Amino acid sequence: MTLALSHVTKRFGNTVALDDISLTIERGEFICFLGPSGCGKTTLLRIIAGLELAEEGTVTLEDRDLSEVPARHRNFGVVFQSYSLFPNMTAARNVGYGLECRGRPRAEIEARAAEMLRIVALSDHAHKLPSQLSGGQQQRVALARALAPDPEVLLLDEPLSALDAKVRESLRLEIRDLQRRLGITTIMVTHDQEEALTMADRIVVMDTGRIAQIGTARELYDRPASRFVAEFIGRMNVLPVAGGRLAGLPLAVPQGATLIGIRPEDVRLHAGEGPPGRAILPARLTNTIYLGNLAHLVLSVEGIEHEIVAEVPGHACKAIADAPQIGLELPAETIKVLA
Ligand SMILES: Nc1ncnc2c1ncn2[C@@H]1O[C@H](COP(=O)(O)OP(=O)(O)OP(=O)(O)O)[C@@H](O)[C@H]1O
Ligand SMILES: [Mg+2]
Repeated sequence: MTLALSHVTKRFGNTVALDDISLTIERGEFICFLGPSGCGKTTLLRIIAGLELAEEGTVTLEDRDLSEVPARHRNFGVVFQSYSLFPNMTAARNVGYGLECRGRPRAEIEARAAEMLRIVALSDHAHKLPSQLSGGQQQRVALARALAPDPEVLLLDEPLSALDAKVRESLRLEIRDLQRRLGITTIMVTHDQEEALTMADRIVVMDTGRIAQIGTARELYDRPASRFVAEFIGRMNVLPVAGGRLAGLPLAVPQGATLIGIRPEDVRLHAGEGPPGRAILPARLTNTIYLGNLAHLVLSVEGIEHEIVAEVPGHACKAIADAPQIGLELPAETIKVLA
């Protein structure tokens, strides 16, 4: 065990920002806090960093209670959303700043800064000021700065959200790779599910100050514990059922089920009625969103209020769109019963 949160609660006036959060993070793990805006991600990260005080609960590192340990003595590296580099210092001096504060000898600081800049592939930019660096380069400097004092834990609050999509994608893999090589326990806050899915060993899904579910990307995607998680991780068609039936069609679900979910890629479409003996509903195509390699077909079914989205390979959508009749199949093994 390395980092443990136990019953952490935090209020701001009448707002309950965090409600009884308990969580154990193993040494070397990459954890993402994922959730919509305002769910408490930053507050939780700040409590771990020691920048905010929990009202109840404890944070312990290797069984050491951190409650009384001020942020500057926690030896955690922190990177915030907006590049918080010192604008009047070169990249190298920014990276060395943490060691400078600790009064380390100049030669050591310079060597370490050079080493960290090499690790984030910015050796050629050491002498530049932040204003002379691109957004992605600035975030890599911020990462190098956080890592330079060799912290026990790395805390990242939406470090990529200000960057454009391409840079973000490559930095995701860079950070993930660096984290693995250094083996450093890392917590990253994000509201971007794709980011969490590509980077984290485990994802903590948060909903209004509570933990909705903790799991690997696969566990959350395949076995969402609730409608909230199902809709937050990937796309999900959520449909009401009654007495085990959907729009009159009997499904292999418990009689007591009230909501089911089916992923767009699990919906099977047939040009025509489809084969007999399967759970197939007649559907009408209302919209096609062509994305190149794949297409999202929006379908309506009589007796079902919400439209159902099916994802098919891009080349397959024409045959469906041209069919005089469409059969929408819900394969039994792909149906998830939602709480
Ligand atoms: N210093 C503060 N004073 C009062 N309320 C606060 C303070 N900081 C946070 N809050 C409230 O606590 C809740 C959680 O905020 P937090 O910043 O942790 O959310 P978040 O999940 O990081 O959201 P985002 O994705 O938008 O950054 C919000 O309702 C917010 O308004
Ligand atoms: Mg935040």
